[in-house]
Parts: sequence; C-alpha cells; structure tokens
Amino acid sequence: MLARQLNIAIDGPAGAGKSSVARAVAEALGLVYLDTGAMYRAITWKAQQQNLSLQDPEILGRLAETTEFTWSDDELKRRLLMDGSPIPAAIRSPAVTRCVSLVASQETVRRALRQKQQQLARSARGIIMDGRDIGTAVMPEADLKIFLTASLEERARRRMHDLGQDVSQLPQLMREMAARDHQDSTREHSPLSIAPDATVIDTTGLSLSQVVELVIRHAEQICLSRGE
Ligand code: CDP
Repeated sequence: MLARQLNIAIDGPAGAGKSSVARAVAEALGLVYLDTGAMYRAITWKAQQQNLSLQDPEILGRLAETTEFTWSDDELKRRLLMDGSPIPAAIRSPAVTRCVSLVASQETVRRALRQKQQQLARSARGIIMDGRDIGTAVMPEADLKIFLTASLEERARRRMHDLGQDVSQLPQLMREMAARDHQDSTREHSPLSIAPDATVIDTTGLSLSQVVELVIRHAEQICLSRGE
C-alpha cells in the first residue's frame, strides 16, 4: 500500500510500545518516523550537560529554541539529527528519564519543540509521530490517531526487558513509570490525554506484530476511503 501523504499520530503512556509500533508501521507504509520523546529527552540531556536549572522556563525555552533538529540526508531511512549530529544514546539514561517530565512540563519548551515537530512534518511527505500530545496539539489534523495503552505492570515488564534488567527491578520501574505518567497526565500544558477522535488500542497481551497489523489496517481503511 502506498501511504504517501498519510499523517499518523501515536500517543500513549510510557512503555505502551509506541516507538516500536511507530517504527514498524513507518517501514511498512514508507512513512518517515519522528520520535518526539527523543526531542524532549535530548533537551533534558543538553540542559544537564550544561548544568542549567531544570526549573527555569526562560533558560530551557531558549535552549529548546536554539537547538537544531534536522533530518539526515538518507532518503530511505531519515534519521533525526540534533545540531547536525546523531542524537546520543545517553538520552535514554536513568538520569534523563527521571528529569524529562519536569522539563517537558515547561510551556516554553513545548512551544519551541511543537513548532520544530510541525516543521519536520511539513518537510516529510507522510509521517508517523509518537509522543504524548501528537493527536491533540502537534498534528490535530492527523489522518489517523492512535492511543496505545497497556497495564502498568505490562508496560514496566517491557521496559525491564528493554533495559536488560531482572525482575527484582520491576517494583521500582513500576513506581517510576507511574510517577512519570502522573506528571505527564496532570501537567498544565498539553498533557497526555486521548484525542476525542483517537482509536484506543489496549496492547496488554498483544504481540508487537499484532498491534502493527491493527494500525496498518486502520491506515488502509483511510486510504480506501480516499479512493487510493
Ligand atoms: O519512551 P518513553 O515512553 O519512556 O518516553 P518518551 O516517549 O521517550 O518520552 C519521554 C518524556 O518526554 C515523556 O515522559 C514526556 O514527559 C515527554 N514527552 C512529551 O511531553 N510530549 C511528547 N510529545 C513526547 C514526550
């Protein structure tokens, strides 16, 4: 199926499988994939590297505004670059994970990153973006909006697996994830919420390929209804 010009928004809490699903759907449908969480993580990482206050909206807003996000030249698999370089793996470190929701709660940061995300979307012919506010704030006009969720335990187990941790870490991971979900859902500016026109998929007990299939089926419906 050719899904050129299709814009898909995937939102949901931590560990719901958004990035794995979005990456696989992007590949299947020939869309560009944008991980907006990586942008919030990258700004948090940069602020920590520069010893900036994580509470100061002006300083953080300026940092977000002056950080450049661009696509790599690779037409087939565009990757997000920060200030011209690949985004460092350290954005996934526990130190960044613990602070990213605080940084993402600043309206100054959100405004700057939202604009950059919309610009990146305009420069790609067909995009799938995942995050917390894609269907509600970044791409409210998206062709397809999916809200992925799963039980807290399942989400924490998946994260435990990704991080190569053992089951003794599960209670701690569940506490940290619940705290981040709470902070993301209750913040004042564009909180994590389900867009009224989003399709909710509970992925508890579903495999990655089952979820990918479901999303592709929804995308196909849209292409069919457009006569493609
Ligand atoms: O992968 P994981 O679910 O752990 O989180 P992520 O997608 O990397 O996002 C990290 C954090 O960035 C979230 O907990 C939110 O605080 C923030 N975020 C946001 O506020 N809005 C987005 N569109 C994406 C991420």
